[in-house]
Amino acid sequence: PVTVYPDQYEASKKVANKIKEIILQKQSIGKNAVLGLATGATPVDVYAELVKMHKEDGLSFKNVITFNLDEYYPMQPDSKQSYVAFMDENLFSHIDIKRENIHIPDGTLPKEDIANYCLEYENKIEEMGGIDLQILGIGRTGHIGFNEPGSAPNSGTRLVTLDDLTRRDASRDFGGKENVPTKAITMGIGTIFKAREIILMAWSRKKASIIKKAVEGEISGKVPATYLQLSDNVKFVLDREAASELT
Ligand code: F6R
Repeated sequence: PVTVYPDQYEASKKVANKIKEIILQKQSIGKNAVLGLATGATPVDVYAELVKMHKEDGLSFKNVITFNLDEYYPMQPDSKQSYVAFMDENLFSHIDIKRENIHIPDGTLPKEDIANYCLEYENKIEEMGGIDLQILGIGRTGHIGFNEPGSAPNSGTRLVTLDDLTRRDASRDFGGKENVPTKAITMGIGTIFKAREIILMAWSRKKASIIKKAVEGEISGKVPATYLQLSDNVKFVLDREAASELT
């Protein structure tokens, strides 16, 4: 199902409200809410809205556990391009989440430790009861998380190679494509699919053609986001421009 909003602000408010509902519902039964989070430009207004809900309405994140989709590899957490820094700046440093409840793939590990680490990341999600709601953006390659074209539908958390277009799109943050890491650790398509609910958001005309493929195109590993068509738990939340090529 696709929902189109006049602009990203209204859409982001709806998504933030959905997150709030899950947090409050879990709170009322004394349980944790487990959220799968994304970085990048797309979810920024959702996070701003959640910060506002915390500051103005007293929404607490004490019962919230988060798992981020991905991190560049290699990446130091204190580097300004890290997804650790991004999450702190846009959300975590402004709310009352417990530090130990935050999980972001570790971009500092030696290569030989990554496979085990990724299995543990999967196990941790399971131990916490699984992801209640996974938030996604979409890359112009059709990636979700950093599952680039060629990713298997049952893939798990792993080290991947970034597509050239993805590195070009990130070049501004890094001051040139040559500075963008060539790899990342990402949750897999299979990991994402286990979430009880999934919301993929996309804004602006830049995303219109990949959204058309993701929503209406043939299901194929060439556009990993098309796998989402196979799930009953997915909502596509779009602004008018991102939806402009849909029939
Ligand atoms: C980020 C992530 C990526 C982004 C995608 C869109 O954690 O997993 O899939 O969601 O690259 O990026 P933006 O939102 O910057 O257009």
